[in-house]
Amino acid sequence: MKIKYFVAFLLLNLPAINVFSQTDVVKNFLFAEKQTRLMLKEVDSVKADPGSSVLVSPRTLNADGKFVMVPSKDWCSGFFPGELWFLYEYTKDKTWMELAKKFTANIEVEKTNGITHDMGFKLYNSVGNGYRLTKDAHYKEVIIEGAKTLSTRFNPVVGSIKSWDNRKQWKFPVIIDNMLNLELLFEATRLTGDSTYYKIAVAHANTAMKNHFRADYSSYHVIDYDPETGKVLHKQTHQGYADESAWARGQAWGLYGYTMCYRETHNKAYLQQAENIAKFIFSNPNLPADLIPYWDYNDPAIPNVPRDVSAAAVAASALYELSTYSKNAKDYHSKADKIIKTLSTHYQVQAGGSKGFLLLHSTGHKPAGSEIDAPIIYADYYYLEALLRKQRLYKGQPVININ
Ligand code: GLY
Repeated sequence: MKIKYFVAFLLLNLPAINVFSQTDVVKNFLFAEKQTRLMLKEVDSVKADPGSSVLVSPRTLNADGKFVMVPSKDWCSGFFPGELWFLYEYTKDKTWMELAKKFTANIEVEKTNGITHDMGFKLYNSVGNGYRLTKDAHYKEVIIEGAKTLSTRFNPVVGSIKSWDNRKQWKFPVIIDNMLNLELLFEATRLTGDSTYYKIAVAHANTAMKNHFRADYSSYHVIDYDPETGKVLHKQTHQGYADESAWARGQAWGLYGYTMCYRETHNKAYLQQAENIAKFIFSNPNLPADLIPYWDYNDPAIPNVPRDVSAAAVAASALYELSTYSKNAKDYHSKADKIIKTLSTHYQVQAGGSKGFLLLHSTGHKPAGSEIDAPIIYADYYYLEALLRKQRLYKGQPVININ
């Protein structure tokens, strides 16, 4: 082809390059089904060892490629059951539902575990999705019990839910990730008519909006409060490069969290906050052209540092939802398309490999030397959620079918 025709061809097709078609959704769900069947075999082989009785859900592959499973108390235990619910939601195949029920049953015990803030990650992604798709009254009770337990971690003087216990360096640490746990509280108010949970969620979101964010709408990871006075003691970024840096997944948790809070409250301040976070992320000079961030936007060794695919997957899912509320709809939708297209094209594991995970190149906790450049279950969960949301948008439906 002559150069001038080739250039004309490229220009004509440019708008289509980042479009994620319905066929792409179908293709990638087929891939996810196959990989998940493989993962189930890995689970079975771990469970064949009698010493593995407390291990319930896959989490990652370690540096030696070993399949790592975790007990229900681990913050990542709910993601795999959640993925099984997503596969059921997409395929309507009852086999996936039965598997989702089986793996969800392992997590229910967490409803009375009050020593962690991760109730939403564990219980909402498993039991919450189960209730959304089945309306099983038992799941409803578990959600309510879990929300009651999570509420015991709320301190009205601080106006927040405490994230971590027993850490010597902090008195009342609250991490930006905790925004995701609020979804469970909103659901509990919907199910009971008791506004206590809703009010706690709103107070937490408002306190985080006040103290977690910098002038450019990037966020700190940890704010430590005095539990007696509510005063801010420290602002830190424990899982990032430095206290003043922007840890990539933290920015994505904020984007997802405030988008969800807007869905639940219709408070325009939350919508604005989500839009401001999106602006920080997508105008950041250190965001690569493919929109998959490095693990921290301020690591001075960029570009020779790992990416965090999980941050991109969380952001893509959030952006699809945000696109349905915001005047910047087209921009957010096309950015989400570009992310899931890139993830599907360049960051997927080889079909039949990586013990059933879907995506490579996430970074869990770099300063601790843990889960660096690895497949991690939460990246896969939010990737599947984003694919589902894209499918629902194709059908002209809201991104999530809560009622
Ligand atoms: N919620 C813990 C993390 O994002 O690593």
